[in-house]
Amino acid sequence: MKTEIAHLGESLEKDEEILTRAALIIKSGGLVAFPTETVYGLGANALDSDAAAKIYAAKGRPSDNPLIIHISKPEEAELYAFVPEEYKLLAEKFLPGPLTVIMPKRDNIPSAVTGGLDSVAVRLPSNTAARRLIELAGVPIAAPSANLSGKPSPTSARHVIEDMNGRVDMIIDGGECGIGLESTIIKLEDGGKAKLLRPGGITKEDLEEIFTEVELDKAVTEKLADGEKPLAPGMKYRHYAPCASLTLVSGEAGLFEKVISENSGKFALGVIAFDEDIDTLVKLGLKRESVLSLGAKNDVSAHASRLFSILRECDTCGFEKIYARLPDKDGLSLAVYNRIIKAAGYDVIRGAKEE
Ligand code: TXA
Ligand code: MG
Repeated sequence: MKTEIAHLGESLEKDEEILTRAALIIKSGGLVAFPTETVYGLGANALDSDAAAKIYAAKGRPSDNPLIIHISKPEEAELYAFVPEEYKLLAEKFLPGPLTVIMPKRDNIPSAVTGGLDSVAVRLPSNTAARRLIELAGVPIAAPSANLSGKPSPTSARHVIEDMNGRVDMIIDGGECGIGLESTIIKLEDGGKAKLLRPGGITKEDLEEIFTEVELDKAVTEKLADGEKPLAPGMKYRHYAPCASLTLVSGEAGLFEKVISENSGKFALGVIAFDEDIDTLVKLGLKRESVLSLGAKNDVSAHASRLFSILRECDTCGFEKIYARLPDKDGLSLAVYNRIIKAAGYDVIRGAKEE
């Protein structure tokens, strides 16, 4: 299939014309990749099971992995889900924004969209082009991240083109995604509690302002045993992994440098680190271009926005082995932790003092 690539940002009229054309494609059952504030999405009409099936085919995605539906106004959630009171509190505080809420689904959402589940994940993105596209389409848009299944989510149109050119009708280039990691996903529980299924731009600490308790699903930080199931089916799949194996090194003083110096020179080594690490790593024998920086050590927003792009870059640098620091688990770092530990297949070197 020939994919049209359209660039936003030239003029308001041109943007409107692109989004109107994209909305027509969605309404007629086609696929459009579009920017959001988290990552690029691969959209189709969420009320049309044939259109949803095209998403699974284009991504190579297992059919039991449900899709998030995207709406353009908070009140639209009522049309597709049975909405509890807490949703309104969440909407007032965090929406539009990087938060997805799982709720019992209404019958108009086909089970092809929800992987057979009787719940539906609903998200109201803050990206204005995304919201305008949904509004013009006049239907909710089912959209997973616009990557091939197993690859890091795309944070720029270039990433989407790498994975989806020839597989979708249109790719809308809206520049780099601000947050760079997928939305926070929560499930509401009785008694004012919530389960956090996937951490993202709305943090556990943010959610604790509304809920009496926010429990982390075990799959967020730990490898599940055989037979254990994550609450978000997608969290069980191998994800984000670069071709070369990635190992994380925990924070004990000097351990990271020790591991790098022991391995530098042995293979084509790549290191994912912070700006402050570069000089030390170069002194330990690494080539400057083998150090991919997530940004300044305390700039967690930069870590989030650069991580997926860096994981993709690892595949073009010809590394045979990659090391990175294990992130912290507070605030937005928890989302970075979750994505990178999955990319590493939970392989972590810990210091003697930490074991
Ligand atoms: O930021 C985002 O959420 C992006 C943008 C495009 O909006 N979308 C995204 O979709 O990350 P996807 O399909 O890559 O990830 C959706 C996750 C999967 O892990 C899926 O299993 C889970 O949400 N999910 C969807 N519906 C669910 C449901 N009803 N119950 C539990 N988990 C669900
Ligand atoms: Mg995804």
